[in-house]
Amino acid sequence: MESLSDLKRTCYCGEVTEEWTGRIVTVMGWVEGRRDLGGLVFLDLRDREGIIQAVITPDRSQAMDQAKEVRLEYVVAATGEVAPRSAEAVNPSMKTGQVEIRVTELRLLSRAQALPFSVSDPQASEETRLRYRFLDLRRLELQRNLRLRHRAAASVRRYLDDQGFVEIETPILTRSTPEGARDYLVPSRVHPGQFYALPQSPQIFKQILMASGFDRYYQIVRCFRDEDLRADRQPEFTQIDLEMSFVTPETVFEVVEGMLQGVFSIVGIQAPRPFPRLGYDQAMERFGSDRPDTRFGLELCDLEAAFQGSSFQVFASILAQGGTVRGLTLPGKSDLSRKRISQLEEVVKRYGAKGLAWIKRTESGLKSSLPKSLPASELEGAADAAQLRQGDVVLLVAGERKTALESLGALRLHVAEEEQLVPDDRYEFLWVEDFPLLEWDGDEERWAALHHPFTSPRDEDLEILASRPGEVRSKAYDVVLNGLEIGGGSIRIHREDIQRRVFETMGIDEEEARSRFGFLLEALSYGAPPHGGIALGLDRIAMLLAKASSLREVIAFPKTARGTDLMCGAPSGVESGQLEELGIALLREEAAASE
Ligand code: AMO
Repeated sequence: MESLSDLKRTCYCGEVTEEWTGRIVTVMGWVEGRRDLGGLVFLDLRDREGIIQAVITPDRSQAMDQAKEVRLEYVVAATGEVAPRSAEAVNPSMKTGQVEIRVTELRLLSRAQALPFSVSDPQASEETRLRYRFLDLRRLELQRNLRLRHRAAASVRRYLDDQGFVEIETPILTRSTPEGARDYLVPSRVHPGQFYALPQSPQIFKQILMASGFDRYYQIVRCFRDEDLRADRQPEFTQIDLEMSFVTPETVFEVVEGMLQGVFSIVGIQAPRPFPRLGYDQAMERFGSDRPDTRFGLELCDLEAAFQGSSFQVFASILAQGGTVRGLTLPGKSDLSRKRISQLEEVVKRYGAKGLAWIKRTESGLKSSLPKSLPASELEGAADAAQLRQGDVVLLVAGERKTALESLGALRLHVAEEEQLVPDDRYEFLWVEDFPLLEWDGDEERWAALHHPFTSPRDEDLEILASRPGEVRSKAYDVVLNGLEIGGGSIRIHREDIQRRVFETMGIDEEEARSRFGFLLEALSYGAPPHGGIALGLDRIAMLLAKASSLREVIAFPKTARGTDLMCGAPSGVESGQLEELGIALLREEAAASE
């Protein structure tokens, strides 16, 4: 093994191209491939910019001795002349594929033990790759993803600085913030029995900063939520969080659209402005989702009128109880088999639907899964409402409105994916606005905030807050890209009296309000400007920029779906002394010890 001593790198491996022919270069990096062709040794050397081929010939005895020792992932420094490859060795798919380095000196800087998987071709489970994340991160794809993420964050900072935003850090050890997930708690040693909560978002602090007069705040900030994980959710994730004073949603939209336009231009994606806007009700009615993927059609249809007063008791009673009948028309799919339909039925059942009925228009007329006794005119009316042409099928869900819409919305996505109807080269940005302020929480039997409890009701709906809370619309908005919610925000309540009324409607009494958010209420009571803002998910944005399928591909050290870090082994048990110091005793010690 040799030391670097005074050897200096002249360039990155991935930079060496034809124009460099004849130059003497020194590159440093990892050995990704090694081929010994009797006499000649070829090494593929990799660094963060790419891979270059180095060739060692027998007349270079120092280099050849070293090259014989070299194994995969050894770290080496190679000096030599850049030369064209022989015609049959040219690799047009590589940026450096026209040239190679004819090595005159090879230094072995570091050895690597036998690898659990090959970096260039990781035929290993994701679990193994996460366990050896330090190796997985060497892959050029992950290197590229993390650098894209960096460029996105840098572009955001530049843009927001230009727009007069000030980056201010807010505490990580704090109190619970109500974003709807469970908190991660941190015990206090100095105050035994008391806990900090890690922030689910900096929501309350950024509002206080507005009350303090900072006018425009932003922060690229880590947030923590103990919730069920999915491909687009991590327990710790990063928000681009911002807040502005004296603004309407229009100003927030303008700032965010400009920011996203800049970020997506990094990978050549256009974001034409202004982004289209869709009301929440419209989004639900047409797409069965509050974050619709508008890159393809398959819009839902309303069959309530067609089945009003139906002789089919099931539909009639659902409609009589205020439910609905909705449909998803699939053009050209009247040959859908019963087996396929029952598979699709499983999809809607996962979203709470009781079943999936169907009507087909075939050459020989209408066929359906509905009772034979249904009058032909009723069936025809439903088929018309579903705009059923010959060869089409409409799939129907009857039930409570939200369940019917959401289950068909999920079915719409499922079918589109299966039938490959989603153009993956389109990027459709969209604002969803006019969300309801509150939704009924059946488990808790009370009204709960759809976003968070600091969201302002629409001024014109304030008078029905107490009498018809379910109908109050809010000043909340989400920004959606290709069916993924990439950000959400609102204009806030800046008046203490309105905040109290909203808490009251949600069944949060004075005492609870004071103990949970007293400091915010107090801040609002000393002269708070009208204000609003938004937070965007940086991880989700990076995932879309990188065309990745999971957040894990754009986070350096992500957690598994079970919230564990397989590389460092978190979460882990702790020494009993540490617990004692914190005044904590475990209820299930054996379980903790065995994990
Ligand atoms: P919200 O809860 O909608 O709003 O979060 C804002 C954005 O953060 C991203 N996000 C996540 N990304 C990865 N993993 C998660 N577990 C996760 N949860 C949320 C999403 C989401 O759109 N304080 C408010 C914002 C505001 O009102 O200004 C908030 O946190 O992209």
